[in-house]
Amino acid sequence: MKVNPADFIRAIPDFPKPGIIFRDITPLLSNAEALRATIGHFVDRYQDQGITQVVGMEARGFIFGTALAHALGVGFVPLRKPGKLPGATLKQSYALEYGEDTLEMHSDALTAADKVVIIDDLLATGGTALAAVQLVEKSAAQLHECAFVITLQALPGVKRLDEAGIPHYTLCEF
Ligand code: PRP
Ligand code: ADE
Repeated sequence: MKVNPADFIRAIPDFPKPGIIFRDITPLLSNAEALRATIGHFVDRYQDQGITQVVGMEARGFIFGTALAHALGVGFVPLRKPGKLPGATLKQSYALEYGEDTLEMHSDALTAADKVVIIDDLLATGGTALAAVQLVEKSAAQLHECAFVITLQALPGVKRLDEAGIPHYTLCEF
């Protein structure tokens, strides 16, 4: 019987600040069946869709993004926190559920010929995902969909993506 990835996501109250319920994916990552089922869901959804690159955000988007890219037989483009990428970059600042940050992407990482899936572990306020979408748009690549392992329903990410007309898909909702 196939495992349910949601059963392997642990809730940690008051991390990293009081009032935040942190959704910890490390039990999912350390369970071989749960990890395989999680990546398998995304592979089933995105194979045969003409995807040419998977885009993932630092840090947890790297984990799912590289596994998905490998399984789809396409490349992976990292979106990094400021000052980490060595080449010329596109930059986009955004607000977090707990703070503020900037994402960067190498300017030459994508072209207008690319069709991409953006993947991250979690959608909360949507700030990170919207910044990632803006970076992909600046590159002129085509966005197929944003994918998340987890969506937090109490936070405005889904509404913000819907209002911006950005297609999105999630595996688990809390
Ligand atoms: C977390 C998470 C998402 C983002 C979601 O990353 O992995 O990328 O927050 O929040 P949002 O929808 O409110 O933008 P974080 O910025 O904590 O970085 P990390 O993965 O490097 O820990
Ligand atoms: N990133 C932003 N909000 C989060 C949460 N509640 N749990 C885990 N990662 C997060």
